[in-house]
Parts: sequence; C-alpha cells; structure tokens
Amino acid sequence: MRILVITGAGVSAESGIPTFRGKDGYWRNFDPAKLATPEAFARDPKLVWEWYRERRQRIRNAEPNAAHTAIAKLAEHAREFLLVTQNVDDLHARAGLPKEKMVQIHGDIFVTKCSRCDWSRRDYDHEHEHEQEDIVSKCARCDALVRPGVVWFGEQLPWSEVKRVEDFLDRGDCDLVIVAGTTATFGYIIDWALRASGDGGELIEVNPEETSLSQFATQLVREPAAIALPRIVDQLIC
Ligand code: OAD
Repeated sequence: MRILVITGAGVSAESGIPTFRGKDGYWRNFDPAKLATPEAFARDPKLVWEWYRERRQRIRNAEPNAAHTAIAKLAEHAREFLLVTQNVDDLHARAGLPKEKMVQIHGDIFVTKCSRCDWSRRDYDHEHEHEQEDIVSKCARCDALVRPGVVWFGEQLPWSEVKRVEDFLDRGDCDLVIVAGTTATFGYIIDWALRASGDGGELIEVNPEETSLSQFATQLVREPAAIALPRIVDQLIC
C-alpha cells in the first residue's frame, strides 16, 4: 500500500509532551505571540530560549509511545510511505522511523540556527545546553543571535520539506491516509490529506475529539493514538 500519515501534538501527548490547543495545552496558558513569533524573539530572546530549553529537556526525558512505534512498523510494511509530522520532537525518529520516510514540517526543536544567515547545528547534548542557560548565543559566522530551528507563526514552511511532501503527492494517490492527534488548524494539513487520499483512498482520523478534518474522513476513530494506532496497524499488516 501507498500510505501517508500526518501527525500532530496528540500523538506525543501520551509520552507526556503537552499539546498546544488541548486541555493543559501550551496555548491555553501561554500567549503564542510572546513565545513563537519572530517579533517575540526580537523583543525577548532570553524568554523565548528559556521556553524552548525547557521543552527540549522535557522531550529528552520522554520516551516514544505505542503510537510512534505503530507508525514506524507501518512504514516498514508499506510499499511507499511518508510521515508528515507537525511535531518538533524526535519521538518518531527514536521509535525507529527512518529520516527519509519523515518530514518535520514545523522543524526540529534540537536544531539551533542563526536568525540571520544560514548557519545551523543540531544540539542534542544536554551538557552543552546547561552551559548556555543564561545567555543567548551568537552565530559563529555572522554574530547575529541564534534561535531554535522551528517554524514560528508568520513564517514560511521550509521549502525543501514542502517539496518532499509535494513530490510524494505527485507520485500518485495513496491507498490510505491516517491523520492522528492534530486539530488540523492549518489549511495545508487538510489540503495534503485530501489530495493524498484522492478519489478512492481511505482517510482515517484518529483523535478523541472532532476537528475540521473530521467531515472528510472515511473512518473516525475517537480514541487516544497509543490505543488506536497499534490496533489499526496490526489489522493492516495481518
Ligand atoms: P493541537 O494542540 O492543536 O492539537 C492536538 C490534537 O490532539 C487535538 O485535536 C486533541 O484532540 C488531540 N489529542 C489529544 N490527546 C490525544 C491522544 N492521546 N491521541 C490522539 N489525539 C489526541 O496540536 P497540533 O494540531 O499538532 O505549530 O498543532 C499544530 C501546530 O500548532 C503545532 O505544530 C504548533 C502549534 O502552534 C507551530 O508551533 C508552528
């Protein structure tokens, strides 16, 4: 089968990573305009870095859950497979999904990049992180402030990653599209899901709550991802 899977914060919720818009979600307690925009970073880079360092640490301490593992297993068995995740954590990768089968469309929280030039580096080592706690580092190449390698509100999606999704869609319709753990707030998520499923593809939504994608789904699974996905994948593989 040719399969596209799209995931959002709900898939990492059972690993203890907060969602954005759900109960106890980040955007219920924090204002995105103060933490996740280029303007916020220009105004208070220390505050923005503090939030991202805290999130990095939480992710390092988390483990992939059964939903991540099920997706990696599905990828192994599919003829062609792509995961598009809005998650900036590394839990899909740590569950064993190869990089070439995954697009992190909102970036990678462990990447640090320059706010001006194209310098970037992946910072996973947490010792390194501690050393820098109170300062905002500057780019070794151009001296501008460095920032997290994620997409903020008001910014373009990384074109190279968009192209990988578009290329996958151009190669043909999918037999199956699974959209799990996302409110599908962004138009491109719904667009990609609908284009991939084409005229006859199955479109399964896994989400305990209704979303703007629900009306288009051919199957609604109103359960947590770590419960539903292992079962769905086992049924598909058998
Ligand atoms: P949201 O926080 O908007 O949505 C999380 C979704 O997961 C909700 O629809 C929940 O019902 C669902 N959910 C919660 N627990 C679940 C579980 N155990 N299993 C399955 N579903 C569950 O997160 P996203 O849709 O990922 O962007 O948000 C999209 C983007 O908005 C994020 O990537 C981030 C945010 O602002 C940027 O930072 C650019």
